Amino acid sequence: PVSVTFRVSPTPAATARAAAQLFTEAAGKAAQSRGLARIAISGGTTPKTMFGLLADPAEPFLKQVPWDKLDLYWVDERCVPPDNAESNYRMTKEALLSKVPLPAERVHRMEGELAPDVAAARYESTIRNTFKLEGAETPTFDLVLLGMGDDGHTASLFPHTEALNEMSHIVVPNHVPQKDTWRITLTWPVINQGREVAFLIEGAGKTQVLHDVFLGPYQPEVHPSQLIRPASGQLTLLLDSAAAAKLPAP
Ligand code: 6PG
Repeated sequence: PVSVTFRVSPTPAATARAAAQLFTEAAGKAAQSRGLARIAISGGTTPKTMFGLLADPAEPFLKQVPWDKLDLYWVDERCVPPDNAESNYRMTKEALLSKVPLPAERVHRMEGELAPDVAAARYESTIRNTFKLEGAETPTFDLVLLGMGDDGHTASLFPHTEALNEMSHIVVPNHVPQKDTWRITLTWPVINQGREVAFLIEGAGKTQVLHDVFLGPYQPEVHPSQLIRPASGQLTLLLDSAAAAKLPAP
């Protein structure tokens, strides 16, 4: 059984602050216990404000995050070059990486400019090598920070797509017919293996899907976010009050 904690903030700005805090604490805890923090982040638009807070010299986070002990990964990427407007890497670079002392060799991006199967295989190798995995071992990220689409997708695990059935890889290419595109994504068993797994979700556009994912019937083919059931037994949701409007009051 997974215990789900809903942390609802009054505004998107306050939600982003809660996420920056969670990121900073998870990085600090991991660096202190293991000398290294491995964090996988999402793309889309929601994390941008959190990245801005992490990089802001007027905020406490920039000084608190152990940047020299951080390895940064992505949960998914669009199949576009890294300078494309759609690139998750590009958004992160502009909002965060260009402003914080994180060495380039500790930033592990998915290569959206390559053929999807090649990019996925190369990212799986990158993870195997940097985590020093052996045989069939799979990675344990210290924090996996997810977003959720209004169709219930998370990472690039879209409804009714092949990647939902993928149990044996760490990273896969995923064809997304509803967007007529390919994506590269971590697989859901790997996401679930994270020490900490959290969703950051805001806005009225997510109200209904949050209700359906957490209060509706279990139909992961329809709402892939329902596959996220961390092995740690703990799932955290950072929400603004608009997104949380159809969840039961705490
Ligand atoms: C991506 C994501 C994706 C995202 C959701 C929510 O590459 O698009 O990682 O899973 O988190 O689509 O996106 P928004 O934050 O833009 O609503």
